[in-house]
Amino acid sequence: KKGSYDHFMQKEIHEQPHSLTTTMRGRLKDGGVLLGGLKEHLKTIRRCRRVVFIGCGTSYNAALAARPFVEELTGIPVTMEVASDLLDRQGPIYREDTAVFVSQSGETADTLLALDYALENGALCVGITNTVGSTLSRKTHCGVHINAGCEIGVASTKAYTSQIVAMAMMALAIGSDQISSQGRRNAIISGLTRLPSCVSEVLKLDAEMKELASSLIDSESLLVFGRGYNYATALEGALKVKEVALMHSEGMLAGEMKHGPLALVDENLPIIVIATRDACFSKQQSVIQQLLSRKGRLIVMCSKGDASAVCPNGSCRVIEVPGVADCLQPVINIIPLQLLAYHLTVLRGFDVDQPRNLAKSVTTQ
Ligand code: UD1
Ligand code: F6R
Repeated sequence: KKGSYDHFMQKEIHEQPHSLTTTMRGRLKDGGVLLGGLKEHLKTIRRCRRVVFIGCGTSYNAALAARPFVEELTGIPVTMEVASDLLDRQGPIYREDTAVFVSQSGETADTLLALDYALENGALCVGITNTVGSTLSRKTHCGVHINAGCEIGVASTKAYTSQIVAMAMMALAIGSDQISSQGRRNAIISGLTRLPSCVSEVLKLDAEMKELASSLIDSESLLVFGRGYNYATALEGALKVKEVALMHSEGMLAGEMKHGPLALVDENLPIIVIATRDACFSKQQSVIQQLLSRKGRLIVMCSKGDASAVCPNGSCRVIEVPGVADCLQPVINIIPLQLLAYHLTVLRGFDVDQPRNLAKSVTTQ
């Protein structure tokens, strides 16, 4: 079943041009979006007081990547909940809320308990899942199957990118009654149609990421700085590295750098800075300058052709990625980090598909 690949995680990373195509198949129609599973509920969602995203691990990170464009395209306030934390706090959920549950397996215990809680509180409950017939799919009022195909590697890869794309289509569908943002929606839809070919292009960085991995093999820790659309990329990249390569890694909001993390910076600690083109670009340029002035060991991810704009004197390593619509850039940017985590794991001699202590579906609390 792995075909020409050595591991499922590797196969699933390289499968993403195809899995993203199947996520979108039949759903981008006549310049608009048609999600059969949400059609009847769009009016209710448009009237809701807020959207609450709920999930665990990678699925939470996918929702975090979706938050900025859901807010932008719908105008509805979005809050984020890690499922276990919502349960621990018994946080407020109201009838006027739309609670969106994100889960690859659709069987994660914490997510399902949070679903029961939101149902009891009368919220409209929407599922985003890869598993038709799962408990999540059956218990939610409506939802979207991401159709990424079966994911076997314990580390979630192709489900993450398909979840983001499914939520982008959801945001487009909810916002489709807003005339003033038609131009923006058209640009995102054309970005979605170009996405599989951009993913094929970024996958060509495989050898470069293997080489980067070999330079990091003995590091004790790896930081990843992102902001805006790519805050989630930082968290998800770091989660991949820690869960499969068994290396300490933290994703951080670059805007928080001066409020603590800066103290860690020295010439040994590798730091990945995500600085692709979007409204936050100049802020990331200044983050890079501040890290370099403290002799930080930087690896900068930037848009194609921007190497000298992010790193004028050549003192950092640069990963150049193809550009897509800014809000879809997280789908591209996570891929080099998935490849890095994969190669780091193989080079360090650990089990890629069955990381220590982890299970594919966490059905206990
Ligand atoms: C559906 C069919 C698909 C078919 C297409 C043709 C299924 C599972 N899907 O896809 O095979 O090609 O019509 O038009 O038969 N749902 C939830 N919670 C979730 C996920 C989904 O309640 O977490 C519900 C949806 O609201 C919907 C149903 O499950 O009622 C199917 O969802 P989805 O597969 O996303 O719908 P379509 O894309 O229309
Ligand atoms: C990370 C990973 C986990 C899952 C989490 C939620 O690669 O796989 O963090 O994302 O256990 O699982 P689902 O999405 O099935 O609810």
